[in-house]
Amino acid sequence: MDHFQYSGGMLHAEDVSVSEIAAQVGTPFYVYSAATLTRHFQLFSEALSPMPHLVCFAIKSLSNVAVLKLLGQLGAGMDVVSGGEYLRAKAAGVPGDRIVFSGVGKTRDEMRMALTGGIRQFNVESEPELLALSAVATELGTTAPIAIRVNPDVDAKTHEKIATGKSENKFGIPIAKARAAYAQAASLPGIKVVGVDVHIGSQLTDLAPFEAAFTKVRELALQLRADGHQITRLDLGGGLGIPYTRSNEAPPLPVDYGTMVKRVLGDLDVEIEIEPGRLISGNSGLLVSEVIYVKNGEGRDFLILDAAMNDLVRPSMYGAHHDIIPVIEGTPGSPTQPFDVVGPVCETGDTFAKGRDLPLLAAGDLVAFRSAGAYGAVMASEYNTRPLIPEVLVQGDQFAVIRARPTFDEIISRDSIPEWL
Ligand code: LLP
Repeated sequence: MDHFQYSGGMLHAEDVSVSEIAAQVGTPFYVYSAATLTRHFQLFSEALSPMPHLVCFAIKSLSNVAVLKLLGQLGAGMDVVSGGEYLRAKAAGVPGDRIVFSGVGKTRDEMRMALTGGIRQFNVESEPELLALSAVATELGTTAPIAIRVNPDVDAKTHEKIATGKSENKFGIPIAKARAAYAQAASLPGIKVVGVDVHIGSQLTDLAPFEAAFTKVRELALQLRADGHQITRLDLGGGLGIPYTRSNEAPPLPVDYGTMVKRVLGDLDVEIEIEPGRLISGNSGLLVSEVIYVKNGEGRDFLILDAAMNDLVRPSMYGAHHDIIPVIEGTPGSPTQPFDVVGPVCETGDTFAKGRDLPLLAAGDLVAFRSAGAYGAVMASEYNTRPLIPEVLVQGDQFAVIRARPTFDEIISRDSIPEWL
């Protein structure tokens, strides 16, 4: 469920008309609903109760500091994968003891930053990383709390580019080698073992792979305890999928996920951490764009938008589907026609949808891409020197620009011409 709906024939974000935002901010832009973000965070938190838990929002899915502040104020922790994301979490006022640091290639500088600024735990992904962290923590005279990310060799049954839990993927330490890695961790100065971490992929639409992975983590946790390690936390990663089409998809709900987690892990006396990104942010955002031209091609009509693949790369990168809806509601029974929906970027990959049935749109009309809150703005680029588009946050009847569109001067002045040219 989200808070984007038609009211009086016009698409609204909560109580704000999307056209009104467009008139003030210009298109294209992203708009997020505070009520939807809040609701999705709370669904997860309720689903894991009464187990002790921390829902750590995966910042990589939507990293605007205003959004992080909103979630942080609700009690969310944050899952970060870079020094930049760590600083965003801190800028949003999230305390270090609610920040977990994931990622396969943490640098020593990033480790130093987190150890100095405060961190709940590092999710360590390799033996060399463990050695580096031990060295950095020792040099700072401190101790790094760690979980080791294990790779359970489970097929997440999702798009190959976002599956992470098979042994051929770069992530984590193979679960068969985990006991040896924990023994090594326990022997190193500056390292304190606190738990086990797993994340098998993103946009999972079935609970079975999660359950298979969590069952393996359960067995490992019991074994590690028998080996003498203090396993007080299990970080289960993110990955629960969302419906991208409103018709035929029905991924499991957070409550089903929570029930399964409690069934598999409820008796272990551990604190559960999860790292959802998409399920909190995905359906909380729209990308709003204006039709520049309708071009009648050979046997097909192109809807040429002012948004492009650099603004929302998911369709061209993963073949992802996003529902596209008109901002002015079509009347029931009014005619539709198939369009190829494209952006202005100079490559054929800049295609959002082919043969998509839409109302008879014309230049100047506004459309909205649904489910664009996750991995939308954060994956945008300035390809074709197209400015990063604004982000807007709505709460009730108020809205604010939470990232402004840069001017061309700002973009171009970041380059510098060497004096010898
Ligand atoms: N934790 C870790 C360690 C991750 O690598 C990820 C996502 C998450 C949590 C959050 O997963 P989520 O709950 O959002 O599924 N750009 C792709 C998705 C990449 C996901 C990367 N890792 C897309 O647009 O579909």
